[in-house]
This record gives sequence, structure tokens and C-alpha cells, in this order.
Amino acid sequence: MTVVKTANRRLESVLVTGGAGFIGSNFIHYLFRQPGFKGSVINLDSLTYAGNLENLEEIDRTFGENGEKRYEFHRADIRDRAAVEEIFKDRDIDTVVHFAAESHVDRSIHGPKDFIETNIVGTFNVLEIARDRWKDKEGVLFHHISTDEVYGTLGDNGYFYEHTPYDPRSPYSAAKASSDHLVKAYFHTYGLPVTISNCSNNYGPYQFPEKLVPLMILNTAEGKQLPVYGDGMNIRDWLYVEDHCSAVYAVIRGGRTGETYNIGGRSEKPNLHVVTRICEIMDALNPIEKNEMIRESTFNITEYKDLITFVKDRPGHDRRYAVNCDKITKELGWQPSVTFDDGLRATVQWYLDNRRWIENVRSGEYKKWIEKNYGKR
Ligand code: NAD
Ligand code: TYD
Repeated sequence: MTVVKTANRRLESVLVTGGAGFIGSNFIHYLFRQPGFKGSVINLDSLTYAGNLENLEEIDRTFGENGEKRYEFHRADIRDRAAVEEIFKDRDIDTVVHFAAESHVDRSIHGPKDFIETNIVGTFNVLEIARDRWKDKEGVLFHHISTDEVYGTLGDNGYFYEHTPYDPRSPYSAAKASSDHLVKAYFHTYGLPVTISNCSNNYGPYQFPEKLVPLMILNTAEGKQLPVYGDGMNIRDWLYVEDHCSAVYAVIRGGRTGETYNIGGRSEKPNLHVVTRICEIMDALNPIEKNEMIRESTFNITEYKDLITFVKDRPGHDRRYAVNCDKITKELGWQPSVTFDDGLRATVQWYLDNRRWIENVRSGEYKKWIEKNYGKR
């Protein structure tokens, strides 16, 4: 159980950018589940391929305009300053939780432009509007969601600390690093009350199936190959998404302004281990002999692990991420609460139970993009 020691901010009117994405939508669910949260949420999202309002159907029913009237959605692009300004204008927003971003490293390699425009210019727009609207306002906070990837890559030893120098190596992490610098500059230069969190790799429900964990779950379910980049020994520090949400909640309630908080799972795993565990969980939950999709496919496999295929490595592939998150534990009492095995099992089960969600997200722009760039897998 996570204990949040301090709870001094109001959180009456929270603007969540990117709230229709994976972590943003999990965060909105999390927020409304907190007994201490009595405020309202404005979800601002442009609904790129990664944004999906289906993630929030239940929230809309319960808290939207036909319910408690504590939740509203606005389709707006953070690159469009006037559109974001319009949302701020008539509302007394006291907290911004800024998730909106282009988030996938592989996409950033194929086309960095959107990453520069959304992650850097978009963040600049939201900062500018907050600075303008909050001139003399007390108790406000701009919380910026960032990634451990800004710190670069580690060798076999060591950890990323809050004071580790930035060394981003992909267009995605470079754009996130740039936005982090802007957020810090707005604190130092203009006194905008900000906090930043740099989190490790998340997994869990509602993650778009381009990222490692959901891609591997769906490919096993469908008897497709499991493409492991390079030697599969690249290490990520995995965190169940709900633990990320509780960490962000801890920071926006009690974090010190101007501070960065690292968030991690204390759960380093090589990619091959992650993929193998998914295969083993699938063997238990969805045995091959009962899996209709396998029988229809051309593969002649006896266990899901047979689908693992080593493919060409990602260019500039960071070798190892590992986050030291002692600061948030010491200051705010947060620590990860879901073990990798429990979280992964729950995630596999969620994808098996939610075929409709999967079909819907796959039928749109994503499919066209993936076919254009990678051909049919
Ligand atoms: P995601 O791609 O699932 O969701 C991003 C959301 O932002 C989508 O709903 C999308 O429609 C929206 N968006 C994108 N461009 C926009 C624009 N120009 N204007 C308005 N909305 C826009 O991403 P995610 O995995 O949920 O990541 C959310 C945040 O967390 C990002 O800032 C990411 O850098 C950070 N982060 C992610 C991870 C991870 O493992 N996924 C880890 C650490 C940090
Ligand atoms: P990903 O989920 O794209 O997150 P990130 O690049 O932000 O860490 O990838 C996680 C790890 O899995 C990364 O080391 C790349 C690797 N990977 C594969 O081996 N195969 C794949 O198909 C994908 C999408 C990722």
C-alpha cells in the first residue's frame, strides 16, 4: 500500500492533457477512485492514433454531464495555442497534469517531426498559457510527466538519479528532454510552480499495441511472431501503470515545486525475460491447443515461446534503464506496490478480456501507418 505523507494542494479543477492515452486515462480512473479527490477533471486530448475515448466510457457515464458533472472532455491540439487558451479561459484550473505527447521511440525514428511539434512546441504552449492565466494565483501547479529515457543509457551497473545529467539518444527522448528543460526554465525564470516526474517503462490496461508488452500479448494470442530486437538483452525497469498513477498523485498533492521526482519499478528485466514470461502466462491462461487463432494460422508450434524471433536491432537502442526512486519514497512515502509477475498476469488477462477495444484501436490510422512503415507483420 502506498502511503502519501503530505496532502496540501487543493486539486479542485485539474486539467489533464493527453487523458485519452494509455497513462492519462489510467490516471483519470485512478483520480476518481481516490476518496480524497473531490474536484473535477478536464481532459484535453487531440485524439491521435494513441488517444481513445473508449478508455473513459465509464468515467464519462459516472462523472460526465449526465452524471456528477465532474468530468469533461475537449478535443484540442496542444500545438494550437488558441484552442488550449479557450479551455483555460472560462475555467478556474488550479492543476495541470501534462501527459500529452508523442510517446513511441520507433515512431520517432521513422518521423521525428510530430515529436518536436507536440512534445516541445506543444509543451511550450501549455506553459505559456499557464504562466499567463496564473499570474497572481496561489496554490497552482503545473506537473510535467516525463521519462527516464532523458538520462540516456546505462552500462551493467548504476542507476538514474534526479541529478544524473541528461543524455537523450532518440528523437523521442530528445524531445522529452527539451520539454523538461522548458518546464524547469519556467520555474526559474518566471516562478511558475512546477514539478516533474521521470518514470520508467509502464505496462498495464489500455496501452496501445505498438509497445513491447501489449504487442507481444496480442501476437501470442494470434499466433504471430514475437519480434525481439537485437539479442533481447536490453533492460527496462518495468512499472505497473497504476503505480505510476499513485506516484503522480503523490507528487501533485505533496511534491515540492521546482523538484524532479524519479519514478521506477525497482524491477529491471531484459526484454527476452519479459517476452518469455508473457509466453508462459499465455500458456497457462490461453493454452495453445484451445486457441482457435493458432489452429487457423500456419504456425506449427507447441508452446508460445516458439514464436520468439530475433529481428534487426532498433537504431541507437538504449541498453539499460534503471531508476533510483529513493527520493519520492523518502519525501512522499511512495513506492511501487504491484510485483512484475502480478502486474503482467493482470495485463495479459485484461487484453484477453477486451478484444473489442483491441479491434477498434487497430482498425484506424495506426494500421495504415504500421503497414506503410513496416509492411504487414
Ligand atoms: P500515449 O501515446 O498512449 O498517449 C498520448 C496521448 O496524448 C494520446 O491520447 C494522444 O491523443 C495525446 N496527444 C498526442 N499529441 C497530442 C497533441 N498534439 N495535442 C493533444 N493531445 C495529444 O502515451 P502514454 O504512454 O500514455 O504516455 C503519456 C506520457 O507519459 C507521455 O508524456 C510519455 O512521454 C510519458 N511516459 C510514458 C511512459 C510509458 O512507458 N508509456 C513512461 C514514462 C513516461
Ligand atoms: P517499447 O515498448 O517501445 O518502449 P521504450 O522504447 O520506450 O523502452 O520497447 C521496450 C523495449 O522492448 C525496448 O528495449 C525495445 C524492445 N522491443 C522489442 O524488442 N520488440 C518490439 O517489437 C518492440 C515494440 C520493442
